[in-house]
Amino acid sequence: MDPRVEQLDAREIDGIVDLSQSVGWDYAPAEIATAMAAGTMVGVRDSAGGLLACAGIFLYPSLASLGLVIVRPEAQGRGLGRHVTAACVELAGDRPVVLAATEAGRPLYERLGFHTVGTLHKMFAATWTPIDQSVTVADGLPDQVQTIDLDAAALGTSRAAFLAARIAQACDHVSVRDGAGETVGFALAVQAPEVRVIGPVVSQDAGTALALVDALARRHGGRLRIDVPSEHNGLVEALQARGFVLDRIVPVMALRPERLPQGNGTRFAIAAQAFG
Ligand SMILES: CC(C)(COP(=O)(O)OP(=O)(O)OC[C@H]1O[C@@H](n2cnc3c(N)ncnc32)[C@H](O)[C@@H]1OP(=O)(O)O)[C@@H](O)C(=O)NCCC(=O)NCCS
Repeated sequence: MDPRVEQLDAREIDGIVDLSQSVGWDYAPAEIATAMAAGTMVGVRDSAGGLLACAGIFLYPSLASLGLVIVRPEAQGRGLGRHVTAACVELAGDRPVVLAATEAGRPLYERLGFHTVGTLHKMFAATWTPIDQSVTVADGLPDQVQTIDLDAAALGTSRAAFLAARIAQACDHVSVRDGAGETVGFALAVQAPEVRVIGPVVSQDAGTALALVDALARRHGGRLRIDVPSEHNGLVEALQARGFVLDRIVPVMALRPERLPQGNGTRFAIAAQAFG
């Protein structure tokens, strides 16, 4: 018999954090709260009501981002991953669906018809060597509408609800203006339990993206993470020269890849693998 896949609400945040810890992931409750605010989480329970599996789908106008696919180790290999993923794909309607795959997840997504369409450089830094700043980076963001517009041009689709939740969650924000005072780039940072995650980074060029990362990194003494679309190899190399080390090249997979929205090339770091 197929398992019952149900929608999860904010009462389940601690249950999802606990489920993520069972597979060695370190989601903070704030990250799951953002997921709940920006999209839909589904799950499967055991007979006692405990969570065995979950997945999340984040619907943007012309794109759906899938993530947080987790099955408790003792319940893996029984089709639960397939069921929660399929439920999310159904919620996406006819949108193209994109995700960043782990090694463990890849066979499941291939079986559901996903194809690899690109890669991310997932990188960590224990320390950061500051650059000589030639770009003036301002603390804080422009108004939310400008930020949403810049992000929408970068991604190829707008995600206002996600960004509002992400900006509220962020522990640090920076932006860059052009000579006319128009904001032309921004970057956010959120604090995970053991690492500060930088992203999204939206910017006209790699040099300005590096300046935005530098502004966030130089005032945080601890560990950093960033996920850079691999085509931005100039930024990848600059980050490696300043202390970042490649952890893994992550496949980006998509369903209906021919309909993926085209961004304008200014997305130098994603927000997080679940959200794009
Ligand atoms: C990845 C994960 C979600 C899979 O969940 P699961 O419940 O074990 O997967 P399922 O049992 O639904 O398997 C789905 C399909 O993938 C296939 N599959 C799974 N593992 C496979 C493997 N190692 N090799 C080949 N095929 C595999 C199976 O054939 C299965 O198809 P079937 O249902 O027709 O038999 C689970 O292993 C997990 O939580 N891992 C840790 C977190 C993680 O990496 N999440 C993925 C994020 S992208």
